Amino acid sequence: MLTPPVIDGGLIFFRVAIKNMQHLISIIDLTPADVQQIFTLTLKIKNQYLSNVREPLLQGRVLAMLFEKPSLRTRVSFESGMIQLGGGSLFLGDGDDVGFNRDRESLADFGRVLSQFVDAVVVRSKAHKTVTDLARYCDCSVINGLTDHDHPCQALADLLTLQELVGDLRGKKLAYVGDANNVARSLMELCAYLDVTFAIAAPPSYRFDDYEIEELKKLCPKLRYELHDDPVQAVKGAMAVYTDVWTSMGQEAESAKRKRDFADYQVNTNLMSHAPDAYFMHCLPAHRGEEVTSEVMDSKQSIVVKQAGNRMHVQKGVLAWLLK
Ligand code: CP
Ligand code: NVA
Repeated sequence: MLTPPVIDGGLIFFRVAIKNMQHLISIIDLTPADVQQIFTLTLKIKNQYLSNVREPLLQGRVLAMLFEKPSLRTRVSFESGMIQLGGGSLFLGDGDDVGFNRDRESLADFGRVLSQFVDAVVVRSKAHKTVTDLARYCDCSVINGLTDHDHPCQALADLLTLQELVGDLRGKKLAYVGDANNVARSLMELCAYLDVTFAIAAPPSYRFDDYEIEELKKLCPKLRYELHDDPVQAVKGAMAVYTDVWTSMGQEAESAKRKRDFADYQVNTNLMSHAPDAYFMHCLPAHRGEEVTSEVMDSKQSIVVKQAGNRMHVQKGVLAWLLK
């Protein structure tokens, strides 16, 4: 069943399973209970992996991967994770060879046929609508491997990482300094599910629409959202300070303007001195010297490598949960 599309910033996204098939396109495709199940499964599989046990939970299962943008973490962690679970993956590149999102055939025909061959598809697309459209036609699960709107697998790995380090996250605060982008949106939605305050400091033109916050509040009445002009106010009392690039993939033409607009929003040792007990987080890849200094990236507070490592573990949990 489809719910009415929600128009946000010109993008259309669906909130629930399409065709009775569970997808992971946005965090809000899941319920808070689903997230807990994924985390529990992830930790079980991760602990087994750390004890050198690789249970073939997905033997004979196949994951297709379509990436219209570059990727290290998402691509390799999905491929390795699938192999470790006894399944296999097919990297179909940017779709040129197989005619994905090209003139060769319609997206509908593409999705209907591809999903007869594979058990799930990971898509990193330029336009968010490509992923939602594909999900409408696929008879298998579609997983968002990043669009300009969301990055749900990243947020799951990040909050799991914090849970491992901090324990009970309820009532804690995550401070995000920078662009209200795909990474920030998925983090905000997952924070709302996990009872974590999401505080953002961003320049005026780079914030979430009030409309979007009101919509999210309807869905997650417990959402605790703080908007700050001043990064210092955002990071005070936070368990973690998070940032992402000022210029996301596809926005390169705006790079010079964005560098100027975000100049006061760099995460550096001065900002971190206002959150001395906080972890520093970044989805990576980082532009050292722009949104974050090397000093902070390489500091004791930084958990960026652990975050990246958990991408694989949480995605194994997602795959095992979706293909259960
Ligand atoms: N964080 C992240 O998604 O990294 P990649 O772009 O390398 O996949
Ligand atoms: N916001 C960044 C995240 C990269 C993982 C981008 O979309 O390029």
